[in-house]
Amino acid sequence: MKAVVYEKFGSADVLELKEVEKPTPKDYELLVKVHATSVNALDIIFRSGAVLLFGLTKLMAGFKKPKVKILGFDVSGEVESVGKKVTKFKEGDLIYGALKKAGANAEYVCIPEKNAAIKPANMSHEEAAAVPDTGCTALHGLRDKVTIQEGERVLIYGASGGVGTYAIQIARLFTPEVTAVCSTDKVSNAQSLGAKEVIDYTKEDFTKNGQTYDIIFDAVGRKKISYSKCKNSLNENGIFVTVDLESVAFKQIRNKRIKSYMAPVTTEKLDFLREQIEAGKIKSIVEKVFPLRQLADAHRYYEKGHLKGKVVINVQD
Ligand SMILES: NC(=O)c1ccc[n+]([C@@H]2O[C@H](COP(=O)([O-])OP(=O)(O)OC[C@H]3O[C@@H](n4cnc5c(N)ncnc54)[C@H](OP(=O)(O)O)[C@@H]3O)[C@@H](O)[C@H]2O)c1
Repeated sequence: MKAVVYEKFGSADVLELKEVEKPTPKDYELLVKVHATSVNALDIIFRSGAVLLFGLTKLMAGFKKPKVKILGFDVSGEVESVGKKVTKFKEGDLIYGALKKAGANAEYVCIPEKNAAIKPANMSHEEAAAVPDTGCTALHGLRDKVTIQEGERVLIYGASGGVGTYAIQIARLFTPEVTAVCSTDKVSNAQSLGAKEVIDYTKEDFTKNGQTYDIIFDAVGRKKISYSKCKNSLNENGIFVTVDLESVAFKQIRNKRIKSYMAPVTTEKLDFLREQIEAGKIKSIVEKVFPLRQLADAHRYYEKGHLKGKVVINVQD
C-alpha cells in the first residue's frame, strides 16, 4: 500500500510517499481503508521531534529517530476486516476515530475499536476526518473538565482553528451565552457557528473591556494567553480551561480555577459528537483538502497557523 513515511525528524521535507506493507489487525483492532485523515498539532510535534510536555512527546515519537514512521492521527474510512475479539464493528462499516500512535497517512491503518465509532451519516469522509482529535479536545474541555450551566457565559479564545470551531458549537449545546475571540477575517465564520458575540482580537483586548465570564476556554495554546492575564475577566467562581497542558501542569494543582488535560478520543465521545452532527448542531469547517501525495504541503499549510477550521487529506484522491 502507499503511505507517507518519515525516517528522521525535521521540516515537512522529511515526508516521502513510499510503498509499505499493509498492516494486519490485532485482536481488538479494525483494519480500515482510509478515505481521509487530517493534520493536527501532534503530527507537527512528532515530525519535528519537538521536546514538549516534559519530554513525553519524545517518549512517544522517539528520541534519535521516529518510532512510528507513518503520521496521521485522525481517520475516516471503511472497515475492511476486524480482529477476532472485536464486538462493535463489522466489515463494511463506515467509521471515524483517532489513533494513539498515528498511522493514518496511508491507504490502510489498524485502529483499536475503543478509539472508533460509526461515522456521522450526513458528513463526507473529509468532513468526518476533521472531527476526532480536535472535536474530542473541545468536547473534553467544555463537557468533562467543566460543567456549563444554561445561561453561563463562556468565552472561546482562538475560535477559528480546529479546536476553536468545534468549541463554539459544543459550548452552544449548553448555553446561548458564547463569545468567540478570533482575527478579523474569521469573525463571520464564528457568528455562523453560533457565537452570540465575536471579539476581533486585532482590534480589542477582551481582558480589558470590563466583561466577565464563567468559563474562558483557551483553544490556541502555545502560550498565547494565560490564567493571570484572564483572571480579571473571570466571574467569582470562573474557570480558565486551556488546551496547553504544559504551561499549567503544576499551576492547576495549586489553583482549582485553572484546568488542562490531554483529551482521549473514545467511542463515547465520538458517538456523542455523531449525534450532535446528525442533529445539525455541529459541523466541520474544512479550510483546504490535499491529496496524500501532497502531505508535505498540507503540513506547511497547517504550520502557517491562522487557519479557518481544518486541513484535511484525501487519501483516495
Ligand atoms: N490538550 C489536548 O489534548 C490537545 C489536543 C489537540 C490539540 N491541542 C492543542 O490545541 C491547540 C490548537 O490546535 P488546532 O489544531 O486547533 O490549531 P489551529 O487549527 O492552528 O488553530 C489555532 C488558531 O489559533 C488562532 N490564533 C493564533 N494566534 C492567536 C492569538 N494570538 N490570539 C488568538 N487566536 C490566535 C488562529 O486563528 P486566527 O487567524 O484567528 O489568529 C488559529 O486558527 C494547539 O496548541 C494544540 O497543541 C491540545
